[in-house]
Amino acid sequence: MKVAVSYLSSNRSILDTIKKINETKADYIHADFMDGKYVKNNNISLKHWFYLRYAAKPLEIHLMVKNPLKYLKYLNGLNIRVVYIHYSAYFLNDITKILKKGYRPGLVINPNDNLDLLSKYFKYVDKVLVMGVTPGAGGQKFIPDTLKTLKQINKYKLDNNLVFSVEVDGGINQETATKVSRYCDTVVSGSYVCKELDYNKPISQLKKPKK
Ligand code: DX5
Ligand code: ZN
Repeated sequence: MKVAVSYLSSNRSILDTIKKINETKADYIHADFMDGKYVKNNNISLKHWFYLRYAAKPLEIHLMVKNPLKYLKYLNGLNIRVVYIHYSAYFLNDITKILKKGYRPGLVINPNDNLDLLSKYFKYVDKVLVMGVTPGAGGQKFIPDTLKTLKQINKYKLDNNLVFSVEVDGGINQETATKVSRYCDTVVSGSYVCKELDYNKPISQLKKPKK
């Protein structure tokens, strides 16, 4: 299992946490951006974009925002593995712009999203990020129905010969990572990692989920 660490709920500063993740065995750094419109919280600032320049691991940009295109200009020059956006009426237009900029687009599935409507967009993206919690805050409890969603997505992928990869974000700890491990290749973990002094301890657990 690959592990992306989110610094969202760290009690250190963003920059200190990014530097600390740099020193670990984590595969990626997961950067959560919230605009106060798509979700209640707002953590977007010029400084926040600037701190990403200190990331020594590939970045996952998770945009919990109403207008993702507004922020692409801040990504220039960064080592970005994927730009995740949530579904909206402008989704196809948005991912076309993301592709044109040279980034890989990803679609985020919220707990209450209708898979019958959204699965037709899977063919346009590199990755699907399945939320295990309601987006907008770290430290929430994993929603058990996420497992059903993951099963459905994997079935759809097989049935339609698609190649996107699946990642899970929210409520991940050793126990939930074990549950989702059959259905994804990467987990995002925020509080479970950042509450420890030694980040490598939880990261190692997540990398080798118990069978
Ligand atoms: C939630 C964010 C997550 C969050 C995960 O809206 O997208 O990336 O930081 O935090 P934990 O692991 O604490 O649920
Ligand atoms: Zn996230």
